[in-house]
Amino acid sequence: MIRTKIIDVLKSEVSDKEFLIKGWVRTRRGNKQVNFIALNDGSTIHNLQIVADMEIFEEELINRVTTGASISVSGILMQSQGSGQSVELQAKTIEILGDCCPNDYPLQPKKHSLEFLREIAHLRFRTNTFGAVTRVRHAMIFAVHNFFTSKGFVNIHTPIITSSDAEGAGEMFKVTTLDLNNIPRCEDGKINYEEDFFGKATNLTVSGQLEGELAALALSDIYTFGPTFRAENSNTSRHLAEFWMIEPEMAFYDNNDNMNLAEEFLKYLINYAMNNCMDDLKFLSQRLIEEEKNKKAEERSMELLAKLKFVVDNEFVRLTYTEAIEILKNSKPNKNGQFKYPIKEYGCDLQSEHERFLVEKHFKRPVILSDYPKEIKAFYMKLNDDGKTVRAMDVLFPQIGEIIGGSEREDNYEKLTARMDQMNIPKEEMWWYLDTRRFGSVPHSGFGLGFERLMLFVTGMGNIRDVIPFPRTPKNAEF
Ligand code: 4AD
Ligand code: MG
Repeated sequence: MIRTKIIDVLKSEVSDKEFLIKGWVRTRRGNKQVNFIALNDGSTIHNLQIVADMEIFEEELINRVTTGASISVSGILMQSQGSGQSVELQAKTIEILGDCCPNDYPLQPKKHSLEFLREIAHLRFRTNTFGAVTRVRHAMIFAVHNFFTSKGFVNIHTPIITSSDAEGAGEMFKVTTLDLNNIPRCEDGKINYEEDFFGKATNLTVSGQLEGELAALALSDIYTFGPTFRAENSNTSRHLAEFWMIEPEMAFYDNNDNMNLAEEFLKYLINYAMNNCMDDLKFLSQRLIEEEKNKKAEERSMELLAKLKFVVDNEFVRLTYTEAIEILKNSKPNKNGQFKYPIKEYGCDLQSEHERFLVEKHFKRPVILSDYPKEIKAFYMKLNDDGKTVRAMDVLFPQIGEIIGGSEREDNYEKLTARMDQMNIPKEEMWWYLDTRRFGSVPHSGFGLGFERLMLFVTGMGNIRDVIPFPRTPKNAEF
Protein backbone atom coordinates (compact mmCIF):
# COMPACT_ATOMS: atom_id res chain seq x y z
CA MET A 1 0.00 0.00 0.00
CA ILE A 2 1.26 3.50 -0.82
CA ARG A 3 1.46 5.96 2.05
CA THR A 4 -0.96 8.90 1.94
CA LYS A 5 -0.07 12.23 3.55
CA ILE A 6 -2.41 13.48 6.25
CA ILE A 7 -3.27 16.64 4.30
CA ASP A 8 -4.71 14.41 1.56
CA VAL A 9 -6.40 11.98 3.95
CA LEU A 10 -8.27 14.87 5.57
CA LYS A 11 -9.60 15.90 2.16
CA SER A 12 -10.77 12.34 1.32
CA GLU A 13 -14.31 10.98 1.34
CA VAL A 14 -15.34 8.37 3.89
CA SER A 15 -15.35 4.93 2.18
CA ASP A 16 -14.16 1.33 2.51
CA LYS A 17 -10.81 2.30 1.05
CA GLU A 18 -7.83 1.51 3.23
CA PHE A 19 -5.19 4.17 3.90
CA LEU A 20 -1.59 3.85 5.05
CA ILE A 21 -0.43 6.78 7.20
CA LYS A 22 2.96 7.53 8.73
CA GLY A 23 3.85 10.24 11.20
CA TRP A 24 4.74 11.33 14.71
CA VAL A 25 2.46 10.99 17.70
CA ARG A 26 1.36 14.27 19.24
CA THR A 27 -0.81 12.79 22.01
CA ARG A 28 -2.55 9.58 23.04
CA ARG A 29 -5.45 9.21 25.44
CA GLY A 30 -7.86 6.42 26.13
CA ASN A 31 -8.98 3.56 28.35
CA LYS A 32 -9.26 -0.23 28.36
CA GLN A 33 -11.68 -0.21 25.41
CA VAL A 34 -10.35 2.40 23.03
CA ASN A 35 -7.39 4.72 22.50
CA PHE A 36 -7.22 7.94 20.49
CA ILE A 37 -3.95 8.94 18.87
CA ALA A 38 -3.35 12.39 17.39
CA LEU A 39 -0.91 11.89 14.53
CA ASN A 40 0.94 14.59 12.55
CA ASP A 41 3.23 14.19 9.54
CA GLY A 42 4.03 17.86 8.88
CA SER A 43 1.99 18.03 5.69
CA THR A 44 -0.60 20.20 7.46
CA ILE A 45 -1.15 21.92 10.79
CA HIS A 46 -4.02 19.47 11.43
CA ASN A 47 -3.58 16.12 13.13
CA LEU A 48 -5.32 12.95 12.04
CA GLN A 49 -7.17 11.19 14.84
CA ILE A 50 -6.45 7.47 14.92
CA VAL A 51 -8.91 5.25 16.78
CA ALA A 52 -7.37 2.08 18.22
CA ASP A 53 -9.89 -0.53 19.39
CA MET A 54 -8.24 -2.31 22.32
CA GLU A 55 -9.85 -5.60 21.35
CA ILE A 56 -7.55 -5.63 18.31
CA PHE A 57 -4.32 -4.22 19.77
CA GLU A 58 -2.03 -5.45 22.52
CA GLU A 59 -1.71 -3.10 25.48
CA GLU A 60 2.06 -3.52 25.26
CA LEU A 61 2.09 -2.11 21.73
CA ILE A 62 -0.24 0.80 22.51
CA ASN A 63 1.86 1.72 25.54
CA ARG A 64 4.74 2.41 23.15
CA VAL A 65 2.59 4.92 21.25
CA THR A 66 3.87 7.88 23.26
CA THR A 67 4.25 11.57 22.39
CA GLY A 68 7.06 11.89 19.82
CA ALA A 69 7.12 8.23 18.72
CA SER A 70 6.87 7.54 14.99
CA ILE A 71 4.28 5.06 13.80
CA SER A 72 2.80 3.59 10.68
CA VAL A 73 -0.94 2.96 10.69
CA SER A 74 -3.33 1.39 8.22
CA GLY A 75 -7.07 1.70 8.48
CA ILE A 76 -10.39 2.92 7.17
CA LEU A 77 -11.59 6.52 7.20
CA MET A 78 -14.77 7.02 9.25
CA GLN A 79 -17.03 9.93 10.13
CA SER A 80 -15.81 11.08 13.53
CA GLN A 81 -18.07 10.67 16.57
CA GLY A 82 -16.22 13.21 18.64
CA SER A 83 -15.93 16.95 18.18
CA GLY A 84 -12.78 18.62 16.85
CA GLN A 85 -12.48 16.67 13.62
CA SER A 86 -14.85 15.49 10.92
CA VAL A 87 -13.06 12.25 10.01
CA GLU A 88 -10.88 9.78 11.87
CA LEU A 89 -8.98 6.64 10.97
CA GLN A 90 -10.20 3.36 12.42
CA ALA A 91 -6.89 1.49 12.78
CA LYS A 92 -6.43 -2.03 11.43
CA THR A 93 -2.69 -2.25 11.97
CA ILE A 94 -0.27 -0.14 13.99
CA GLU A 95 3.49 -0.48 13.69
CA ILE A 96 6.03 1.37 15.82
CA LEU A 97 8.70 2.82 13.55
CA GLY A 98 10.69 4.57 16.27
CA ASP A 99 10.09 4.59 20.00
CA CYS A 100 10.40 7.93 21.77
CA CYS A 101 12.07 7.88 25.15
CA PRO A 102 9.23 9.43 27.19
CA ASN A 103 11.36 10.61 30.11
CA ASP A 104 13.90 12.43 27.94
CA TYR A 105 11.67 13.87 25.21
CA PRO A 106 11.59 17.64 25.76
CA LEU A 107 8.43 18.35 23.75
CA GLN A 108 5.52 17.61 26.01
CA PRO A 109 1.93 18.21 24.89
CA LYS A 110 1.78 21.62 26.58
CA LYS A 111 2.80 25.15 25.73
CA HIS A 112 6.57 25.74 25.58
CA SER A 113 8.14 29.20 25.44
CA LEU A 114 9.72 30.27 22.14
CA GLU A 115 12.99 30.84 24.02
CA PHE A 116 13.01 27.24 25.21
CA LEU A 117 12.18 25.98 21.73
CA ARG A 118 15.21 27.84 20.34
CA GLU A 119 17.39 25.69 22.60
CA ILE A 120 15.90 22.59 21.01
CA ALA A 121 15.82 23.88 17.44
CA HIS A 122 16.52 20.32 16.24
CA LEU A 123 13.07 19.29 17.49
CA ARG A 124 11.01 22.46 17.22
CA PHE A 125 9.91 21.64 13.67
CA ARG A 126 7.56 19.22 15.40
CA THR A 127 5.59 21.97 17.10
CA ASN A 128 2.51 23.54 15.54
CA THR A 129 4.14 26.97 15.46
CA PHE A 130 7.33 25.92 13.66
CA GLY A 131 5.51 23.57 11.36
CA ALA A 132 3.32 26.50 10.31
CA VAL A 133 6.24 28.95 10.00
CA THR A 134 8.26 26.46 7.97
CA ARG A 135 5.44 25.74 5.54
CA VAL A 136 4.73 29.46 5.08
CA ARG A 137 8.46 30.02 4.52
CA HIS A 138 8.42 27.47 1.73
CA ALA A 139 5.35 29.06 0.15
CA MET A 140 7.09 32.45 0.20
CA ILE A 141 10.23 31.04 -1.46
CA PHE A 142 8.06 29.57 -4.19
CA ALA A 143 6.12 32.82 -4.58
CA VAL A 144 9.35 34.82 -5.00
CA HIS A 145 10.40 32.64 -7.92
CA ASN A 146 6.88 32.71 -9.35
CA PHE A 147 6.65 36.48 -9.25
CA PHE A 148 9.92 37.07 -11.05
CA THR A 149 9.47 34.24 -13.50
CA SER A 150 6.10 35.64 -14.53
CA LYS A 151 7.81 38.96 -15.26
CA GLY A 152 10.64 37.44 -17.31
CA PHE A 153 13.39 37.94 -14.72
CA VAL A 154 16.37 35.58 -14.75
CA ASN A 155 17.60 34.08 -11.47
CA ILE A 156 21.35 34.50 -10.90
CA HIS A 157 23.51 32.64 -8.39
CA THR A 158 26.00 35.16 -7.12
CA PRO A 159 29.11 34.08 -5.22
CA ILE A 160 29.01 33.46 -1.50
CA ILE A 161 32.76 33.92 -1.11
CA THR A 162 33.88 37.31 -2.41
CA SER A 163 36.70 39.76 -2.04
CA SER A 164 34.51 42.86 -2.13
CA ASP A 165 32.42 44.70 0.44
CA ALA A 166 29.29 45.69 -1.46
CA GLU A 167 27.74 47.78 1.28
CA GLY A 168 31.03 49.35 2.38
CA ALA A 169 30.08 48.85 6.00
CA GLY A 170 32.96 46.50 6.76
CA GLU A 171 30.77 44.03 8.64
CA MET A 172 32.23 40.93 7.02
CA PHE A 173 33.13 37.43 8.10
CA LYS A 174 36.60 36.52 6.87
CA VAL A 175 37.13 33.35 4.88
CA THR A 176 40.61 31.89 5.20
CA THR A 177 42.60 28.67 5.33
CA LEU A 178 45.63 30.37 6.88
CA ASP A 179 46.90 28.77 10.08
CA LEU A 180 45.62 31.19 12.71
CA ASN A 181 48.36 30.09 15.09
CA ASN A 182 51.05 30.86 12.58
CA ILE A 183 49.92 33.68 10.32
CA PRO A 184 52.27 34.49 7.41
CA ARG A 185 53.26 38.15 7.41
CA CYS A 186 54.74 40.59 4.94
CA GLU A 187 57.80 42.65 5.79
CA ASP A 188 55.63 45.51 6.98
CA GLY A 189 53.90 43.17 9.46
CA LYS A 190 50.60 42.95 7.57
CA ILE A 191 49.03 39.55 6.90
CA ASN A 192 50.35 38.02 3.69
CA TYR A 193 47.13 36.98 1.97
CA GLU A 194 49.08 35.84 -1.08
CA GLU A 195 49.62 32.66 0.88
CA ASP A 196 45.91 32.26 1.57
CA PHE A 197 43.65 29.88 -0.38
CA PHE A 198 42.51 32.42 -2.96
CA GLY A 199 45.74 34.41 -2.96
CA LYS A 200 43.85 37.42 -1.62
CA ALA A 201 41.72 38.39 1.38
CA THR A 202 38.19 36.99 1.06
CA ASN A 203 34.97 37.17 3.03
CA LEU A 204 31.39 35.92 3.04
CA THR A 205 29.20 38.12 0.89
CA VAL A 206 27.03 40.84 2.45
CA SER A 207 25.00 41.20 -0.76
CA GLY A 208 24.82 39.78 -4.27
CA GLN A 209 24.05 43.16 -5.76
CA LEU A 210 27.34 44.06 -7.43
CA GLU A 211 27.46 40.79 -9.37
CA GLY A 212 23.71 41.09 -9.97
CA GLU A 213 24.31 44.44 -11.68
CA LEU A 214 26.77 42.81 -14.07
CA ALA A 215 24.10 40.33 -15.14
CA ALA A 216 21.35 42.97 -15.40
CA LEU A 217 23.53 44.93 -17.81
CA ALA A 218 23.14 42.07 -20.27
CA LEU A 219 19.92 40.24 -19.38
CA SER A 220 17.90 43.36 -18.43
CA ASP A 221 15.98 41.92 -15.47
CA ILE A 222 17.57 39.55 -13.00
CA TYR A 223 17.19 38.57 -9.35
CA THR A 224 19.31 36.81 -6.79
CA PHE A 225 18.01 34.86 -3.80
CA GLY A 226 20.80 33.72 -1.58
CA PRO A 227 22.32 33.72 1.87
CA THR A 228 24.07 36.88 3.01
CA PHE A 229 26.26 37.38 6.05
CA ARG A 230 26.75 40.36 8.31
CA ALA A 231 29.13 40.42 11.22
CA GLU A 232 27.34 43.35 12.88
CA ASN A 233 26.98 42.89 16.60
CA SER A 234 23.25 43.65 16.65
CA ASN A 235 21.46 41.50 19.15
CA THR A 236 17.95 42.58 18.19
CA SER A 237 14.76 40.77 17.27
CA ARG A 238 15.26 41.88 13.62
CA HIS A 239 18.93 41.07 12.92
CA LEU A 240 20.62 37.83 11.95
CA ALA A 241 24.29 37.25 11.14
CA GLU A 242 23.18 34.90 8.34
CA PHE A 243 20.01 35.80 6.49
CA TRP A 244 18.49 35.32 3.05
CA MET A 245 18.05 38.20 0.69
CA ILE A 246 16.21 38.63 -2.59
CA GLU A 247 17.86 41.21 -4.83
CA PRO A 248 16.25 42.12 -8.16
CA GLU A 249 18.25 44.37 -10.48
CA MET A 250 16.64 46.00 -13.51
CA ALA A 251 18.24 47.74 -16.47
CA PHE A 252 16.39 50.84 -17.73
CA TYR A 253 14.53 51.31 -14.41
CA ASP A 254 14.72 54.60 -12.56
CA ASN A 255 14.10 54.81 -8.83
CA ASN A 256 10.40 55.40 -9.34
CA ASP A 257 10.06 52.20 -11.37
CA ASN A 258 12.07 50.54 -8.61
CA MET A 259 9.59 51.65 -5.93
CA ASN A 260 6.65 50.50 -8.04
CA LEU A 261 8.18 47.05 -8.42
CA ALA A 262 8.99 46.80 -4.70
CA GLU A 263 5.40 47.64 -3.76
CA GLU A 264 3.94 45.24 -6.30
CA PHE A 265 6.33 42.48 -5.17
CA LEU A 266 5.49 42.79 -1.46
CA LYS A 267 1.76 42.83 -2.18
CA TYR A 268 2.09 39.78 -4.42
CA LEU A 269 3.91 37.82 -1.71
CA ILE A 270 1.42 38.71 1.01
CA ASN A 271 -1.51 37.90 -1.27
CA TYR A 272 0.10 34.59 -2.14
CA ALA A 273 0.34 33.70 1.54
CA MET A 274 -3.33 34.56 2.10
CA ASN A 275 -4.40 32.49 -0.91
CA ASN A 276 -2.23 29.46 -0.19
CA CYS A 277 -1.43 29.25 3.53
CA MET A 278 -4.78 29.95 5.18
CA ASP A 279 -4.71 27.03 7.65
CA ASP A 280 -1.28 28.00 8.91
CA LEU A 281 -2.04 31.73 8.98
CA LYS A 282 -5.22 31.14 10.98
CA PHE A 283 -3.20 29.15 13.49
CA LEU A 284 -0.52 31.87 13.64
CA SER A 285 -3.15 34.55 14.08
CA GLN A 286 -4.59 32.67 17.06
CA ARG A 287 -1.10 32.18 18.47
CA LEU A 288 -0.49 35.94 18.35
CA ILE A 289 -3.80 36.69 20.06
CA GLU A 290 -2.89 34.21 22.85
CA GLU A 291 0.58 35.67 23.21
CA GLU A 292 -0.72 39.21 23.52
CA LYS A 293 -3.74 38.55 25.68
CA ASN A 294 -2.09 40.05 28.76
CA LYS A 295 -1.09 43.22 26.93
CA LYS A 296 -3.09 46.44 27.11
CA ALA A 297 -5.48 46.87 24.18
CA GLU A 298 -3.46 49.73 22.66
CA GLU A 299 -0.25 47.69 22.77
CA ARG A 300 -1.68 44.72 20.94
CA SER A 301 -0.94 44.26 17.25
CA MET A 302 -3.59 44.23 14.59
CA GLU A 303 -5.09 40.78 13.98
CA LEU A 304 -2.74 38.99 11.56
CA LEU A 305 -5.07 38.41 8.61
CA ALA A 306 -6.58 41.89 8.91
CA LYS A 307 -3.05 43.33 8.93
CA LEU A 308 -2.03 41.39 5.81
CA LYS A 309 -5.19 42.42 4.01
CA PHE A 310 -4.67 46.02 5.04
CA VAL A 311 -1.22 46.14 3.45
CA VAL A 312 -2.42 44.54 0.22
CA ASP A 313 -5.40 46.88 -0.08
CA ASN A 314 -3.65 50.18 0.59
CA GLU A 315 -1.17 52.23 -1.35
CA PHE A 316 2.17 52.73 0.34
CA VAL A 317 2.91 56.34 1.29
CA ARG A 318 5.89 57.82 -0.54
CA LEU A 319 7.94 60.70 0.76
CA THR A 320 11.49 61.94 0.81
CA TYR A 321 13.92 61.68 3.68
CA THR A 322 13.83 65.48 3.97
CA GLU A 323 10.06 65.45 4.42
CA ALA A 324 10.32 62.62 6.94
CA ILE A 325 12.87 64.51 9.03
CA GLU A 326 10.49 67.49 9.26
CA ILE A 327 7.66 65.23 10.45
CA LEU A 328 9.93 63.49 12.96
CA LYS A 329 11.46 66.73 14.26
CA ASN A 330 8.03 68.13 15.04
CA SER A 331 6.60 64.86 16.37
CA LYS A 332 5.37 64.47 19.94
CA PRO A 333 7.82 61.71 20.92
CA ASN A 334 10.71 63.84 19.66
CA LYS A 335 9.56 66.92 21.55
CA ASN A 336 8.80 64.91 24.69
CA GLY A 337 12.19 63.20 24.64
CA GLN A 338 10.69 59.75 24.03
CA PHE A 339 13.05 58.78 21.21
CA LYS A 340 16.24 57.09 22.34
CA TYR A 341 17.96 58.91 19.45
CA PRO A 342 16.36 62.38 19.26
CA ILE A 343 16.04 63.89 15.78
CA LYS A 344 17.99 67.12 15.86
CA GLU A 345 18.81 67.95 12.29
CA TYR A 346 18.86 66.92 8.66
CA GLY A 347 21.51 64.32 7.97
CA CYS A 348 21.09 61.87 10.83
CA ASP A 349 20.46 58.21 10.09
CA LEU A 350 16.97 56.97 10.93
CA GLN A 351 16.66 54.35 13.65
CA SER A 352 13.96 51.75 13.74
CA GLU A 353 12.05 53.76 16.39
CA HIS A 354 11.75 56.62 13.88
CA GLU A 355 10.77 54.33 11.01
CA ARG A 356 8.12 52.68 13.13
CA PHE A 357 6.77 56.03 14.32
CA LEU A 358 6.23 57.11 10.70
CA VAL A 359 4.55 53.85 9.74
CA GLU A 360 2.59 52.94 12.86
CA LYS A 361 1.68 56.29 14.35
CA HIS A 362 1.92 59.00 11.73
CA PHE A 363 0.80 57.48 8.41
CA LYS A 364 -0.59 54.17 9.70
CA ARG A 365 0.49 52.56 6.42
CA PRO A 366 3.68 51.17 4.86
CA VAL A 367 5.98 53.96 3.78
CA ILE A 368 8.61 54.27 1.06
CA LEU A 369 11.26 56.83 1.98
CA SER A 370 13.51 58.10 -0.78
CA ASP A 371 16.32 60.52 -1.53
CA TYR A 372 18.49 60.15 1.55
CA PRO A 373 21.63 62.23 2.23
CA LYS A 374 24.54 60.64 0.41
CA GLU A 375 26.63 60.47 3.60
CA ILE A 376 24.46 57.77 5.15
CA LYS A 377 24.11 55.56 2.07
CA ALA A 378 26.31 53.24 0.01
CA PHE A 379 28.76 54.40 -2.67
CA TYR A 380 26.85 52.93 -5.62
CA MET A 381 23.68 55.02 -5.25
CA LYS A 382 22.92 57.61 -7.93
CA LEU A 383 23.57 61.18 -6.95
CA ASN A 384 20.66 63.59 -7.38
CA ASP A 385 21.13 66.91 -9.15
CA ASP A 386 21.21 68.69 -5.78
CA GLY A 387 24.61 67.02 -5.19
CA LYS A 388 23.46 66.28 -1.62
CA THR A 389 21.04 63.38 -1.81
CA VAL A 390 21.05 60.00 -3.53
CA ARG A 391 18.26 58.09 -5.24
CA ALA A 392 17.85 55.60 -2.42
CA MET A 393 14.57 54.09 -1.33
CA ASP A 394 13.71 52.13 1.80
CA VAL A 395 10.37 50.39 2.33
CA LEU A 396 9.25 50.61 5.96
CA PHE A 397 6.72 48.22 7.47
CA PRO A 398 4.79 48.16 10.73
CA GLN A 399 6.52 46.23 13.56
CA ILE A 400 9.59 45.75 11.42
CA GLY A 401 10.86 49.08 10.18
CA GLU A 402 13.06 48.61 7.11
CA ILE A 403 12.01 45.56 5.10
CA ILE A 404 13.51 46.62 1.75
CA GLY A 405 16.52 48.79 0.92
CA GLY A 406 17.43 49.78 -2.62
CA SER A 407 18.29 52.54 -5.06
CA GLU A 408 18.91 53.67 -8.58
CA ARG A 409 22.60 53.02 -9.28
CA GLU A 410 25.23 55.56 -10.28
CA ASP A 411 25.68 54.75 -13.97
CA ASN A 412 28.09 57.60 -14.76
CA TYR A 413 31.73 56.49 -14.63
CA GLU A 414 33.17 59.83 -13.49
CA LYS A 415 30.58 60.40 -10.76
CA LEU A 416 30.92 56.83 -9.51
CA THR A 417 34.72 56.93 -9.28
CA ALA A 418 34.55 60.31 -7.56
CA ARG A 419 32.20 58.82 -4.93
CA MET A 420 34.50 55.86 -4.45
CA ASP A 421 37.46 58.16 -3.89
CA GLN A 422 35.52 60.21 -1.34
CA MET A 423 34.54 57.04 0.50
CA ASN A 424 37.97 55.38 0.30
CA ILE A 425 36.75 52.46 -1.76
CA PRO A 426 39.67 50.86 -3.63
CA LYS A 427 38.92 51.26 -7.34
CA GLU A 428 41.58 48.77 -8.49
CA GLU A 429 39.78 45.89 -6.82
CA MET A 430 36.47 46.92 -8.37
CA TRP A 431 37.74 47.17 -11.95
CA TRP A 432 35.12 44.68 -13.16
CA TYR A 433 32.28 46.70 -11.62
CA LEU A 434 33.60 49.93 -13.10
CA ASP A 435 33.96 48.31 -16.54
CA THR A 436 30.15 48.16 -16.87
CA ARG A 437 30.10 51.97 -16.63
CA ARG A 438 32.55 52.13 -19.54
CA PHE A 439 30.99 49.54 -21.82
CA GLY A 440 27.39 50.48 -22.58
CA SER A 441 26.30 51.80 -19.20
CA VAL A 442 22.56 52.32 -18.74
CA PRO A 443 20.35 53.67 -15.97
CA HIS A 444 19.46 50.78 -13.69
CA SER A 445 18.00 50.14 -10.26
CA GLY A 446 17.44 47.39 -7.76
CA PHE A 447 16.62 46.57 -4.17
CA GLY A 448 17.08 43.96 -1.48
CA LEU A 449 14.28 42.31 0.48
CA GLY A 450 15.33 40.70 3.75
CA PHE A 451 13.54 37.37 3.50
CA GLU A 452 13.31 36.81 7.27
CA ARG A 453 11.90 40.30 7.77
CA LEU A 454 9.19 39.43 5.27
CA MET A 455 8.62 36.21 7.22
CA LEU A 456 8.26 38.17 10.47
CA PHE A 457 5.58 40.26 8.89
CA VAL A 458 3.64 37.46 7.24
CA THR A 459 3.67 35.11 10.24
CA GLY A 460 3.26 37.73 12.97
CA MET A 461 6.17 36.18 14.87
CA GLY A 462 7.99 38.67 17.10
CA ASN A 463 11.58 37.46 16.85
CA ILE A 464 13.61 36.84 13.70
CA ARG A 465 15.19 33.80 15.40
CA ASP A 466 11.83 32.10 15.13
CA VAL A 467 11.31 32.41 11.36
CA ILE A 468 14.53 30.71 10.19
CA PRO A 469 15.23 27.09 11.09
CA PHE A 470 18.70 27.58 12.57
CA PRO A 471 19.40 31.21 13.45
CA ARG A 472 22.94 32.55 13.50
CA THR A 473 23.32 35.43 15.94
CA PRO A 474 26.20 36.76 18.07
CA LYS A 475 27.49 33.93 20.30
CA ASN A 476 25.09 31.41 18.79
CA ALA A 477 25.85 28.91 16.05
CA GLU A 478 24.42 25.73 17.59
CA PHE A 479 22.96 23.06 15.31
O1 4AD B 1 19.61 47.73 3.13
P1 4AD B 1 20.55 46.61 2.81
O2 4AD B 1 21.84 46.58 3.54
O3 4AD B 1 20.75 46.68 1.24
C1 4AD B 1 21.61 45.92 0.49
O4 4AD B 1 22.28 45.01 0.89
C2 4AD B 1 21.57 46.27 -0.97
N1 4AD B 1 22.73 45.68 -1.61
C3 4AD B 1 20.28 45.78 -1.56
C4 4AD B 1 20.15 46.10 -3.02
O5 4AD B 1 19.94 47.26 -3.35
N2 4AD B 1 20.29 45.12 -3.89
O6 4AD B 1 19.81 45.21 3.06
C5 4AD B 1 18.61 44.91 2.38
C6 4AD B 1 17.60 44.31 3.32
C7 4AD B 1 17.18 45.22 4.46
O7 4AD B 1 16.18 46.12 4.05
C8 4AD B 1 16.65 44.21 5.48
O8 4AD B 1 15.34 43.79 5.16
C9 4AD B 1 17.57 43.04 5.27
O9 4AD B 1 18.14 43.16 4.00
N3 4AD B 1 18.64 42.98 6.28
C10 4AD B 1 18.69 42.10 7.29
N4 4AD B 1 17.86 41.12 7.65
C11 4AD B 1 18.19 40.38 8.72
N5 4AD B 1 19.32 40.56 9.46
C12 4AD B 1 20.20 41.53 9.12
N6 4AD B 1 21.32 41.69 9.83
C13 4AD B 1 19.89 42.37 7.99
N7 4AD B 1 20.52 43.40 7.40
C14 4AD B 1 19.75 43.75 6.34
MG1 MG C 1 19.37 49.33 4.32
